[in-house]
Amino acid sequence: MSIKIKLTISYILLITMIIIFFGVISTLTLEKYYIDNIIEILTSQGTSFSRVFDSYIDADIYTISQDVVKKLATDTNAQVQVLNMEGMLLGDSTLSSTPVPIKILTPDVIQAISGESGVYTEKINNERVLHVSVPIKNKLNYVAILRLSSSLEEVSNIIKRLVLFLALVLTVSSLVALIIGFFIANELTKPLEMVKKATQEMAKGNFKVRAEKTSNDEIGILADSFNKMAEELGQLEEMKNEFISNISHELKTPLTSIKGFAITAMDLVEKNSELYEYLNIIDEETDRLSRLVDELLDFSKIELNKIKLSFEEVELDKLIEDTVAILRPHASNDGVNLICKKKIDRVVINGDVNRLKQVLVNIIDNGIKACSRGKYVKVFLDIKDKKAVIRIEDQGQGIPQEEIKYIFDKFYRGKNNKYSGTGLGLAISKKIIEEHKGTITVESEVGKGSVFTIELPLKDR
Ligand SMILES: Nc1ncnc2c1ncn2[C@@H]1O[C@H](COP(=O)(O)OP(=O)(O)O)[C@@H](O)[C@H]1O
Ligand SMILES: [Mg+2]
Repeated sequence: MSIKIKLTISYILLITMIIIFFGVISTLTLEKYYIDNIIEILTSQGTSFSRVFDSYIDADIYTISQDVVKKLATDTNAQVQVLNMEGMLLGDSTLSSTPVPIKILTPDVIQAISGESGVYTEKINNERVLHVSVPIKNKLNYVAILRLSSSLEEVSNIIKRLVLFLALVLTVSSLVALIIGFFIANELTKPLEMVKKATQEMAKGNFKVRAEKTSNDEIGILADSFNKMAEELGQLEEMKNEFISNISHELKTPLTSIKGFAITAMDLVEKNSELYEYLNIIDEETDRLSRLVDELLDFSKIELNKIKLSFEEVELDKLIEDTVAILRPHASNDGVNLICKKKIDRVVINGDVNRLKQVLVNIIDNGIKACSRGKYVKVFLDIKDKKAVIRIEDQGQGIPQEEIKYIFDKFYRGKNNKYSGTGLGLAISKKIIEEHKGTITVESEVGKGSVFTIELPLKDR
């Protein structure tokens, strides 16, 4: 996840949390405020209503209750009930006749029985109802309980509307936060993004990149350090390439001389003699060393961008045939069959003959080395989508999946290859093919073999 997204998500989370926090607090406070208010109204109504009983002073509480509740009900929205001190229901404003005497012993009533006002909320038919019970004193004794009940449905509705409103606010502000957050995050990460691009570019091997410094904060310091590092690495890289270039040049002269003397000496000694055999080995090993030095030299040329291709018309079919013919004895030596299979007779491209030959030699040679005795290396040539397609298939050991992405890297050598090499062959080949605006790809299966495919644009007429 990018920092930009992380920042944006943090903003939204923060805002959501704040809104939810204040939403919950304000909802709870508001609810408490409303309910307290209702309790207060009901209690004061109850207390003031209790005076009505004074005018019924001598009457039997049973007979007056029904009258009283009717009278009081006109002054309040609440349901009015009168209970005796045992909690027995005597009158109810919502009933037209005298109620069936049942006992109501909810906590508010129990509190009132003990002589103090009681409050209790309960759920009746899914509706919250608030009861306030006030004891009524007649002269010295408590004689009855006045119970006022009010539905809290309205409060619930207000709270519901508030929650809905808060949800709306939350959604809108989250959206706003998303937009603003995204812009802020974008601004904040822009310099980082530039440093990131530069490092990625350098990881690809370009040591000339520099990160632009846009601020003096941590990111600016990062850009500075990066640039310093890039510069030093660039210098080291250059030194390394110069060194390889110089040393390979230096090596070439003595190698030529050794080869020359070995060949001359071979003429002087008797063939089949032991000495002749030794000289032959010197000659062959010098050749091998020369090839390695050539590879190093090529590599340094590529790295220093000194490689110059001389383009001309190349008959790819002929080139492949020639190369295969040259390599066939070498393959036979290893007991490997090298076959050329052209599907098309004449394929002409624009390219550098020697460099293309070098690529073919590299890849066919790799194939031969990967094969055990009795196996095949086949070279195919075809045309597809206006491109020349060369396929080099071998029945060798194959390349492990995790190594495939590295084999075109310079100096990379397979973990389990037995021959010696510089690990430069494929890196150089790839570079050469790219200079020809072509592509080189590989598919491989361990134990079955590998297929290298080279595609080169045909010469346009
Ligand atoms: N045809 C192939 N079959 C199996 N492994 C291969 C083949 N071609 C290349 N490789 C692997 O890729 C690596 C790099 O090849 P290359 O660049 O030619 O270097 P080198 O041949 O000097 O080792 C080799 O060391 C080898 O492990
Ligand atoms: Mg090789």
